Amino acid sequence: MINYKDLGLSNTADMFKKAMDGGYAIPALNFNNMEQLQAIIQAATESRSPVIIQLSKGAMSYISDSFIPHLAKAAVQYSSDLSNGNPVPIALHLDHGDSLETVKRAISVGFSSVMIDASHYDYDENVRISKEVAEFAHPLDITVEAELGVLAGIEDDVVAEKSHYTNPEEVEDFVKKTGVDSLAISIGTSHGAYKFKPAPGEEIPPLHFDILEGCQSRLPGFPIVLHGASSIPVEAVKLLNQYGGKMDNAAGVPADQVRKAASMAVCKVNIDSDGRLTMTGRIREVFHNKPSEFDPRKYLGPAREDLVELYKDKMKNLLGSAGRC
Ligand code: G3H
Ligand code: 13P
Ligand code: ZN
Repeated sequence: MINYKDLGLSNTADMFKKAMDGGYAIPALNFNNMEQLQAIIQAATESRSPVIIQLSKGAMSYISDSFIPHLAKAAVQYSSDLSNGNPVPIALHLDHGDSLETVKRAISVGFSSVMIDASHYDYDENVRISKEVAEFAHPLDITVEAELGVLAGIEDDVVAEKSHYTNPEEVEDFVKKTGVDSLAISIGTSHGAYKFKPAPGEEIPPLHFDILEGCQSRLPGFPIVLHGASSIPVEAVKLLNQYGGKMDNAAGVPADQVRKAASMAVCKVNIDSDGRLTMTGRIREVFHNKPSEFDPRKYLGPAREDLVELYKDKMKNLLGSAGRC
């Protein structure tokens, strides 16, 4: 059993309190390999932004549990090295945990924060499972995120075809009964690179800010989480398509909408697809322009540099988390 504090990690309690008071949101960025993690930590440290590094159950298996605490400890050390001994606060979070068993697995290898996503069960079952997780995690000083309402999209173990928006009338009862520390809600975002299908010439529909307002007025000062918040940048899709990719009609959440959510009760914004797209586009370009190149550093290196820029831009211009620590 590894204690996250021994790795130099933080849970999300203090991060969320400061984000709520300051009207900004903490970036919660998924990773699957060393280059993505290095880019996240470099961007956060150079921006002086607190950061949540997150792994899905599938990403944990891809990396292998034995590597995870060492990568997390290295992330803290890397931030320290880049800042003359002044690392930014880093939380290691389980994204879309599907059961208490997965939560226990994550905690045993040093996670400081966990999500239990039982949102696809009925209300009472969601309450039961989320409460069980909070009761297990809290004595270990680990923070817990749950979800009410369902986001469409596919992750490894939690699959939903259709969105069901959160009912603001349920949130107070849910938080009271479960004791969770933050709540993911469904207000019109979805996972992946195809979030909206606007007809030609049509605008992307706005998120349901009325639902977010309803939740924040019933839970004053309580941290809300926005999943599926990738913007799917046009330039990244263009680069990818230009060099042999095929991602027509990809569409994400317009930046001004995420910015608005971050200024409200949303304290954690989840972004994965933008990193995946950015990385893949640059690697495709290198493969296309230098077909004889076979040194991984020559294509993963430029992709990592692009990720640093992407994340710095998110911290400074989207979430307002830059310069907060
Ligand atoms: O919302 C889920 C994240 O994008 C992680 O996806 O389960 O494919 O690792 P994954
Ligand atoms: P995106 O697919 O929009 O990046 O969402 C990621 C996410 O919500 C991870 O939990
Ligand atoms: Zn998610």
